[in-house]
Amino acid sequence: MPTVSGSTAAPAPTTTTTAVPRPGESTGAFVYRTQCAGCHGPTGEGNLGPELRGIASRLGVEAQVMVVRTGNLRMPAFSPALSEAEIRAVVAYTRSELPGPPASAR
Ligand code: HEC
Repeated sequence: MPTVSGSTAAPAPTTTTTAVPRPGESTGAFVYRTQCAGCHGPTGEGNLGPELRGIASRLGVEAQVMVVRTGNLRMPAFSPALSEAEIRAVVAYTRSELPGPPASAR
């Protein structure tokens, strides 16, 4: 007897497009990956925006917080999209966690 099978359509994907931190990922790393990496490169090597590796030797922390808050030319302003705490976390991340410039350039 022929059977009438049910729908063979695959179930709807359950993945969400809302970015969430990866396990163990810090706030700064998460914000960098989701907000900054597109323009500054996944490891800060630069792309549309300038290289951020070694930024701590070029810019003071408060100056850097200001750039992220208010933007500059093609650098978008991230306040109020990011909280002050998130801005400080991502600035700290770029200063301490991004790979530095090549050892030969230090
Ligand atoms: C749409 C692309 C874009 C995004 C997204 C972006 N930036 Fe930028 N960023 C730029 C550009 C372009 C500049 C250079 C601005 C200028 O000419 O002064 C810049 C400059 C900067 C500078 C100053 C660099 C220097 O050497 O003076 C810092 C710091 C910075 N960005 C951090 C961030 C952080 C942190 C994020 C994520 C929260 C971010 N940017 C997201 C495009 C971007």
